[in-house]
Order: sequence, then structure tokens, then C-alpha cells
Amino acid sequence: MKGMVFTEFLEFVGERFGEDMVDDIIEVSALPSGGAYTSVGTYSHGEMVSLCGALAERTQQPVGELVRDFGDRLSDTFARDFPDFFRRAGNLFDFLESIEAHIHIEVLKLYPDAELPSFVVEERSAARMVLLYTSPRKMGHLSEGLILGSARQYNVEVRVALDELDVNEGMSTRFVIELA
Ligand code: HEM
Repeated sequence: MKGMVFTEFLEFVGERFGEDMVDDIIEVSALPSGGAYTSVGTYSHGEMVSLCGALAERTQQPVGELVRDFGDRLSDTFARDFPDFFRRAGNLFDFLESIEAHIHIEVLKLYPDAELPSFVVEERSAARMVLLYTSPRKMGHLSEGLILGSARQYNVEVRVALDELDVNEGMSTRFVIELA
């Protein structure tokens, strides 16, 4: 997993829970990297799982909610650092449809070792989209947050329902996204 995800995650934790919490979760997670992440490095996905687990334990908040809120905040960073992806798609649904066909393809050019999920649009109408996320990394809640945060970039309100499906290889989450 790219270092950028880790550096952003630790910034999110610092902002919300303070720098002591950042130090605590790094210490308690006994990370192979020691927690010294650089945005260009690549680290094991297991380190993210450990950090999120430690944060959930220390804050007594469900890990899914923490990861969702992190995804929501991460969309602000994406909007700042990759504004063209948002500009190119005129609205939220076009943007979400472009993750698979465009955004993550460009991401792979920038970071050839990036490990990316798949997003398949199963249904789409003016006010509703059904999106299937599949990844062995099981980060459906990160996607939920990114969807909510992306909606904010387009100034639209959405309701997002998640359905977690177990499939043999990876894990899938089906999102039903409705414009409010
Ligand atoms: C400007 C928009 C976006 C950019 C630049 C971007 C970039 C990235 C990058 C750099 C990674 C890390 C890959 C790695 O660590 O190896 C990633 C992973 C991921 N992205 Fe995106 N992304 C964007 C939009 C989205 C959106 C809108 C969603 C969800 C709806 C999404 C869902 C994910 C998920 C869930 C992962 C974690 C890896 C996995 O699940 O397998 N991304 N993306």
C-alpha cells in the first residue's frame, strides 16, 4: 500500500485525536516499518490493518466508522492534489464511473506498484447508482468515505447503503448511492 495512504491516515488521526494518539497507535502496532512512512514508499497493507485496529481499540469507536471518516477526509486531499480528475467528470456519477476507466489507470502510471480495487457500475440512472467494489484488501468503508467526500466536492447530498458480500477470491461491497 502506498505511503501516501499512511501519511494521510496519520494526519487524519493527529487532527482528530491528537499527536499522542498517533504515537500510541504506532507504538502498540509494532510495525515492520517502525511507522516512518514516506509518501513515495510502499508498505504492507497489514500495517494499515494494525493501525486501524489499534485506533479502534483506543478510541472505542468502530473501525468501519473510523475508516469511513478517513476516506471522507482523503477525498479533500484528492480534490486538492488531483483536481483534473474531478473537473474532467462533470458530476458525481460520472466521477465514480471514471475511477475504474480512468482515475485508477492514471494512478497506476504514477505509482506502478499501486494495489487498486475494481469498481463496476451495475446500474445507473439520473438519481441512483449501484457500484460494486471488489478488492482482497477489503476496504469497503474507505470507499464509502471516498464516495461521501466526493459527493461533497460536487455539492450534492447522497445516501449510501452498503451491502458486504463474501466472494471466493476477494471481498466485495455493493454500494447503492442515491441523490438526496
Ligand atoms: C482523484 C481521485 C482518486 C485518486 C487520485 C485515487 C488514488 C488512489 C491511490 C494512490 C490508492 C493507493 C493504492 C495503493 O496503496 O497501492 C488508491 C486506493 C484505493 N482507492 Fe482510489 N483514488 C481516487 C478515487 C477513489 C474513489 C472515489 C474511490 C471510492 C469510491 C477510491 C477507492 C479506493 C480504495 C478503496 C483503495 C484502497 C485499495 C483497495 O481497496 O484495494 N478511489 N486510490
